[in-house]
Amino acid sequence: MKKYEIETLLAQAGNHSQEDPYGTVATPIYLSSTFRHGKLSDVDHFDYEKQYAYSRMANPTRKTLEQTLTLLEEGTKGFALSSGMAAIELVFSLFKSGDEIISTDDLYGGTFRYFDHLSEHYGLKFTQWDGTNNDELIKRVTSKTVALWIETPSNPTMKKTDIAEIAALVHGINSNIKVIVDNTFYTPIYQKPLDLGADIVVHSATKYLSGHNDLLGGAVICKDTKTADSLTFNFNTTGAVLDPFDSWLLLRSLKTLPLRMHQHTENAQNIVKFLSNSSAVSKVLYPGKGGMISFYLKDKTKLAAFFDRLKIISFAESLGGIESLVTLPAKQTHHDMPVEQREKLGITDNLLRLSVGLESSKDLIAELKNALE
Ligand SMILES: Cc1ncc(COP(=O)(O)O)c(C=O)c1O
Repeated sequence: MKKYEIETLLAQAGNHSQEDPYGTVATPIYLSSTFRHGKLSDVDHFDYEKQYAYSRMANPTRKTLEQTLTLLEEGTKGFALSSGMAAIELVFSLFKSGDEIISTDDLYGGTFRYFDHLSEHYGLKFTQWDGTNNDELIKRVTSKTVALWIETPSNPTMKKTDIAEIAALVHGINSNIKVIVDNTFYTPIYQKPLDLGADIVVHSATKYLSGHNDLLGGAVICKDTKTADSLTFNFNTTGAVLDPFDSWLLLRSLKTLPLRMHQHTENAQNIVKFLSNSSAVSKVLYPGKGGMISFYLKDKTKLAAFFDRLKIISFAESLGGIESLVTLPAKQTHHDMPVEQREKLGITDNLLRLSVGLESSKDLIAELKNALE
């Protein structure tokens, strides 16, 4: 198949479908939980890749979305799930008690909570690494290591891990170790982990992929067919699938992903310039691209006044949408992380995380100026 640019793939997602009998340009929403079989012999010779039987296994709207996600991340198979956490859970269905997983140390708080749960109740063992020091990483690899979990840029301190270097290093030790990347912050517009040597990509599609603060979703895309087969079995067996309506909404939103990401970046870069020169801010963390900025207030007693003065930016959890949001990670997303670890990572009470939306950056800067000074 001719390979198109990402903008073309997304604009055309669902159009020219082989399955559609009416020539629809936009993908229809197939709100049907089940599908009629013709005759008994159809059931005996059922082709699960091409036919439909029951929407947990496959649904035409979700399938169009999953094919788009697969093309976007350049994998072999994609899965659309009911949340980012459901996507992470699906990936962990590949592992068993006694398996060891190395993860970067600055992760979304819910991912930490899930890792703790897996280690306490299911016997998986997790060790952490700072995402940059290769010697420290090598020391942590044992004969029981099955996976390396990377979030880059990290949430909320924006540390970057070199996926290509790390994947080559780990696969050089044992090619069976799965390198898994949570690509929620950068999206495939800025980073394609499978191309860089990773084995599995995960997204909270609630964030940039959907981009409108209006749905919860998750995505998993894998590179090899053996992993795809295991994930297909586990996905259908456990069933945290994305419903047809949200699949359609997500597919619709993906069509504007490149435009949105570029504007998020432009707005964020303007805001970084302002924050870096603000006397009320002691430090700004920005990975260079995308719409996520973290910054430290010099005087944490001014936090309440800062929030009170916001008129456009909402004080709310989540990120990646059109509407700008600000969170206080220590009290919200990372509240479950032990306080010593938070302090060590720099997730202190004066650290704010801003998800820069698509409002005018002039208005956002005027608002921040007023709230900070
Ligand atoms: C980087 C990252 N991964 C995963 C998740 C979990 O996704 P969800 O909230 O869609 O379950 C989040 C949520 O904030 C996140 O920020």
